[in-house]
Amino acid sequence: MSKWGALLLCSLALLNAASAAEPPCSYIVQSGDSLFAIGKEFDLTQAEVADANPQVDNIELIQPGQVLYLPCSGNASDGDSILDLLAHRQDMHILFQAVLAAGFADMFNDTKAKGTLFAPGDEAWFQVLDRLNMTVGDLLADKELLSTVLKYHYAPEVVLEAQSLENGQNITTALTGEDLVVYKPRDILRLATNTGKKVRVVDMDMPAGAAVVHTVKNVLWPANSLLELPPPSGDCVHVVKAGDTLFQIAKDAKTTVDALVELNPDLEPDNGQSLQPGMELILFPSCAA
Ligand SMILES: *[C@@H]1O[C@H](CO)[C@@H](O)[C@H](O)[C@H]1NC(C)=O
Ligand SMILES: *[C@@H]1O[C@H](CO)[C@@H](O)[C@H](O)[C@H]1NC(C)=O
Ligand SMILES: *[C@@H]1O[C@H](CO)[C@@H](O)[C@H](O)[C@H]1NC(C)=O
Ligand SMILES: *[C@@H]1O[C@H](CO)[C@@H](O)[C@H](O)[C@H]1NC(C)=O
Repeated sequence: MSKWGALLLCSLALLNAASAAEPPCSYIVQSGDSLFAIGKEFDLTQAEVADANPQVDNIELIQPGQVLYLPCSGNASDGDSILDLLAHRQDMHILFQAVLAAGFADMFNDTKAKGTLFAPGDEAWFQVLDRLNMTVGDLLADKELLSTVLKYHYAPEVVLEAQSLENGQNITTALTGEDLVVYKPRDILRLATNTGKKVRVVDMDMPAGAAVVHTVKNVLWPANSLLELPPPSGDCVHVVKAGDTLFQIAKDAKTTVDALVELNPDLEPDNGQSLQPGMELILFPSCAA
């Protein structure tokens, strides 16, 4: 191609980029829309739109009112809804798609609704998918499972700021009859699920309209779910024997004492006495879900 031809193409590409609108993250399908047309409007290919929406059962048959994810950049602002917040987070794609697939888009797009969402990031979902031997597509296709698991992450009608949570406090979730319990014997904030697993709360107090969102390190998997979460593969748990030391356990597992203390809320960092024979120590973060 001639130098001028390349320059012309380049300018056309620039013009094209300038004329395409910034994708809105979430897009509501209008009647007469096609993937191709939606993509074109936002300078995305049909394949890019399809790939970004594994929650859609049949991408050839999109329906008016259906919500699509369009890859976008930038952050949501405080007044935006939970849905907007999730859509803008680059580490929350699976949760966002799960919300769409479960039919919770409207519930999480109400900026006036009070509520508290505990939001697991993509990495947390991948750990669970690995244990379930499921793909993201399998998960998104199982609406009943999704709905159950998502409800367990949401406390409706209450805005629970992290600092207001007290050790032992019950959190009533949208999953009827299933609570989360705050576990904060010291300053690290965790939530205990009804299977007794303790999950760390990480990024706290992100405002989303009248609601608040905290991220959690693992998916909160309820005991009564339709699918039992198999134990993690590999050596996840060390059963303490008489004479064990934290240092030796950490060394054998190729981890650190600090990491063990972080994962095992019953351990006191500076007190070897908290190590009791029979106690089960979680060795790796991926085992904590
Ligand atoms: C979005 O938020 C992240 C983390 O809070 C921050 O690092 C980043 O600079 C923000 N990006 C924009 C475009 O505001
Ligand atoms: C969320 O609500 C806003 C404001 O009511 C509306 O403009 C937007 O289309 C809604 N988004 C979705 C995905 O429902
Ligand atoms: C995981 O699923 C795949 C495909 O469904 C199957 O072939 C494989 O045997 C499964 N692996 C385990 C460990 O169950
Ligand atoms: C939390 O719920 C459990 C079981 O439902 C109950 O036994 C316990 O007393 C509750 N704790 C508080 C602080 O309300």
